[in-house]
Amino acid sequence: MARPRPEPPRPAPAGLPEGADRARLIERTLAQYRRYLNPGLARLFQFGGVETVEWAAEGCLVWDVHGREYIDCACGPAIFNVGHRHPRVLAAVRDQLDRMPMSVRTMPSAPMAALAERLAEVTPGDLQYSFFCNSGAEANEGAIKLARLATGRPGFVVMQEAFHGKTLGALSATGRAYYRTPFEPLVPGFVHVPFGDAGAVEAAIGRDVAAVMLEPIQGEAGVILPPAGYLRQVREICDRRGVLLIADEIQTGLGRTGRMFCVEHEGVVPDILTLAKALGGGVMPIGAFVARPALWERMKRDPYIHSSTFGGNPLACRAALATLDVLVDERLADRAGPLGEQFLGRLREIRARHPGVVKDVRGRGLMLGIEFTHRDYALMTSAEAGHRGVITFYTLNNPQVIRVEPPLVITPALIDRAADGIEGAVAAAEAMLGSVGAAAEGGS
Ligand SMILES: Cc1ncc(COP(=O)(O)O)c(C=O)c1O
Repeated sequence: MARPRPEPPRPAPAGLPEGADRARLIERTLAQYRRYLNPGLARLFQFGGVETVEWAAEGCLVWDVHGREYIDCACGPAIFNVGHRHPRVLAAVRDQLDRMPMSVRTMPSAPMAALAERLAEVTPGDLQYSFFCNSGAEANEGAIKLARLATGRPGFVVMQEAFHGKTLGALSATGRAYYRTPFEPLVPGFVHVPFGDAGAVEAAIGRDVAAVMLEPIQGEAGVILPPAGYLRQVREICDRRGVLLIADEIQTGLGRTGRMFCVEHEGVVPDILTLAKALGGGVMPIGAFVARPALWERMKRDPYIHSSTFGGNPLACRAALATLDVLVDERLADRAGPLGEQFLGRLREIRARHPGVVKDVRGRGLMLGIEFTHRDYALMTSAEAGHRGVITFYTLNNPQVIRVEPPLVITPALIDRAADGIEGAVAAAEAMLGSVGAAAEGGS
C-alpha cells in the first residue's frame, strides 16, 4: 500500500521558556512532585525517561517545554476525541467564561438543559434523562445508585478486570484486586464474572441483582473485545431476568470505536449509559449518566436525592455541547473506522516483524491495543516511543498492553509517522531486552 504523503513539520509553540528558565522549570516541577504530590510519581517519570514538562497542545500534537513535538496516541486516555483545543470547543468555553462560568444553582441553567436534550438525541433508543457530574467514577457511582433506587435491589453482576473508576462504589465494580484489596471492605453486593461469557452473567443473576454493568470493550483490562453478539445476548438475559443493563461508555463512547456509542455496533440500548472523558472536548471535565424514563421516577419525586455542586456547570456543558456538534459535523465516528483499520494494519505488520516481542494487536475503530509477550517490553516500548515523539500509555489493569487511542481527527500521514515511531520503539526494546523469554526470566 502506498504510504501517505508526510505532513510538513509544525512550528514549535510560541512563548517557550529558554535556557536556564527552562531547566529551572523542569527541576522545580519535579521537585514539587517529589515533595508535595508523590515521590513515587516522580520516580515513575524518571524511570520512563521523562525528564521534561508538558507545555502546549493542538489537534493531535503535544509539545514539551523543549519544543519537542509528540503525536498523542494515548489521549489522556481517550479524552481528546475531537483533538486538543478544538477551536469550536474553545470558542464556546470562552464565550461562557466571559458571561457566567459557574451556576448559582437557584435558577435553571440553559447550557445544562440544552446538553441534556442533545444527549437524549444522540444516545441510542429511549435514553432520555441525564444527570451531570465531573468524572467517570462519579458517573458510575451515580449509575450504581440509580440502579439500586429504581429496582430496590442491592446487587450487581460486573466483569473481571473491568475498570469503572476508583471511588468506593465504582471501585467495587472494578475488577482488579491490586486496586481493590487495600480498600476492603468495599460496597457489598458485587459479583465478578468473566468478560465475554454471557452464560456466566446469566448464572450470576440472583434475586437481589439490580443490574449487570459492563464496558462494551474493556479498556483498562487491555483493550479486550467480547465475542460478536455478546452485548445482544446480555441485553436479552437482562430483559428476561428483569435486571437493568448499565453500559460504561466512558472510554468507548463518543465515536472512539467507529460508532457514536459502542453498544450501537450490536443495536443494543442499555438502561443506563455512563459518559465522561471525551465529553468535555478535552477542555473541561464532565461526566454524565443517561437513563431510560422509567428509571427516573424516584429522581423526579426527590430531585436532590443525588446531587453535585459542580456537576453540569455552564462551562463544562458548553464544552460538551460544542464537542457533540464537532463529533457530528465532522463525522468523527465514521472516520474512526477506516483510520483504525489503517493503524491496525501497521500494527499487524509490526507484530509480524517482531513476534518475540508483540503477542497480539487488536481493537475497534481508534481504540487499539498492543499486547506484548512480557510487560517489560510494554514499559520499554512506551518509554522509547516517547523518545521518538509518540505518546502511548499502558492500560491500568494490564501493564502488558499499551493502548493506541489517538484523536479521531488524526490523519493518515500522522498515523504512518506514529506507527514508524512505535516500530522503532519495539525494535529498541527488543535490542535492549533481548528476544522473547530473555525479559521474562528477569521480570515479574
Ligand atoms: C471505562 C472507564 N470507566 C470509568 C473510568 C474512570 O473515569 P475517571 O478517571 O474520570 O474517574 C475510566 C477511566 O479510565 C474508564 O476507562
